[in-house]
Amino acid sequence: MSTVHAPNIVIFNPHSPDGTVLARQIAMQYPAAPDSGMVLCRTVQPGRRTGTLNGDSKMTTLLIKEELERIWQYGQDVDLTGVGYGRIHWDNEIDIWDFPAPYYYFLAGWCRLFRARRVLEIGTHWGGSAVSMARGMVRGSPMGEELKIVTLDLTEESDNFIPNQRESSMIHKIVGDANSSSMIRKTAEAFSGEVIDLLYIDAEHTEMSTFFNFVIYAILLKPKVVICDDIELSDGMRSFWSLAKLCAAPQVIVNVVDYVPAVRATVTGETKAFVAHRGGGAADPGFGYIRFRV
Ligand SMILES: C[S@@+](CC[C@H](N)C(=O)[O-])C[C@H]1O[C@@H](n2cnc3c(N)ncnc32)[C@H](O)[C@@H]1O
Repeated sequence: MSTVHAPNIVIFNPHSPDGTVLARQIAMQYPAAPDSGMVLCRTVQPGRRTGTLNGDSKMTTLLIKEELERIWQYGQDVDLTGVGYGRIHWDNEIDIWDFPAPYYYFLAGWCRLFRARRVLEIGTHWGGSAVSMARGMVRGSPMGEELKIVTLDLTEESDNFIPNQRESSMIHKIVGDANSSSMIRKTAEAFSGEVIDLLYIDAEHTEMSTFFNFVIYAILLKPKVVICDDIELSDGMRSFWSLAKLCAAPQVIVNVVDYVPAVRATVTGETKAFVAHRGGGAADPGFGYIRFRV
């Protein structure tokens, strides 16, 4: 295959014999990263608009699946010992879960694989997801890299957990309504005007609140990827997801669960039932993945 090599990048020429098949079906970037370093593979087809990849064709399905499985796999090697969901806010709203939710490994794996340096989370709760991402970032980055997570919540509940973690210095918590002007301002200031790698949205699971989270912070901070929890939780969240699919030209927009069900699976075990807790019913609340760029 005809290729152009740059540091850590392989660019396929779609006009070469082998590249033609790829070029006809995809125009995307995807990671195929050995432990020693990331290799990006990109098709290049001048003058042709990149289509959104939503898993419709056999070829794109394979590539998206590979990317999501790799993220999941990278997460398995991030040590989440001591990370828990914290106080549950369903059922008795008192119990404290001291084990990681399955999707924490996906979040950590994303941060590790893509060497995330700047992440925004909307919806901290106890801080389990924030600390998981922090551990993935530390695992994926060279020593000395400046790493930062900004996490927003209405509550101060994470004060029970985050300050006691060794990653606490890289986690910047801001309290308030994520869709208010003061929080938008504080968040922009916290990132000093720089774009971010990942936006993770897991806050108020209603259509318009989530949509405002998405639009405001995707425009403000231009994340490479947006991950949205619970996109199948309710009619409102399904409606949010259909609105998100209208956004202009993401490279990929898929429900991770369609490719790697374990990310949002029920964890069975005597007491560790990470069942459909929010909204009381859906066994698979979904996990949205929108990639704008690499
Ligand atoms: C499902 S919990 C987050 C769980 C956490 N991301 C995790 O996975 O461990 C949702 C959180 O969003 C917060 N929240 C709800 N509406 C919000 C808003 N408008 N602005 C900021 N936080 C909000 C709630 O207080 C709650 O702590």
